[in-house]
Amino acid sequence: MPDATPLDRIHRAGVLPVIALPRVEVAVPLLEALAAAGLDCAEITLRTAAGVDAIRRARKALPGVLVGAGTVLTAAQAEEALDAGAQFVVTPGFMPRVTAVCLERQVPIFPGVMTPTEIGMALDAGLTNLKFFPSEAAGGIATLRALSGPFPQVRFMPSGGISPENLASYLREPIVVSVGGSWMVTKELIEAADWATVRALAARAVEIVRGVRGAS
Ligand code: 3PG
Repeated sequence: MPDATPLDRIHRAGVLPVIALPRVEVAVPLLEALAAAGLDCAEITLRTAAGVDAIRRARKALPGVLVGAGTVLTAAQAEEALDAGAQFVVTPGFMPRVTAVCLERQVPIFPGVMTPTEIGMALDAGLTNLKFFPSEAAGGIATLRALSGPFPQVRFMPSGGISPENLASYLREPIVVSVGGSWMVTKELIEAADWATVRALAARAVEIVRGVRGAS
């Protein structure tokens, strides 16, 4: 679906892998393993020095995969990530300068929020699809439901502490667009280049998404 927006694609996937890459070289095999399981979108974080180059490499090698930049903390990082081809940006909190760069360059941004004040700041910037982070530590689904009372226009991408065990319960919430998580792309799996396990965990995540939403 070439006309689908990044948000459409993230929503359709139901799960957004949050990735910290130790080396640029592992980006392509890792994203290939995810895509083979049916997860064709990923957030490559700038938590490691390899992040920006990994985004560039993934965009070149895997045009069918939606690649975003995560943990973008400064305007300079946002510019670098977008220059490398990031198709969307995720931030752990509401970052006004990063947000300004993304709005200016017309690239979707999903800022992290945890409180009504932060949601208000994101709404002021015209954003209604927000990352809820760190979800489990911040009260999980009960907190999300409480936040959606005064903010019915907001849809959330919860992330932080989500696993195959609680994934379905998040996906059943109508205010949840998609769920972020690193359980299928852990440091250990990436370091071991265990792409078979990455693929199996991603396939299980896809199965859970389909179980909740029905096959599409
Ligand atoms: C994120 O930035 O979204 C989180 O680090 C992902 O959380 P998890 O590692 O607990 O899945």
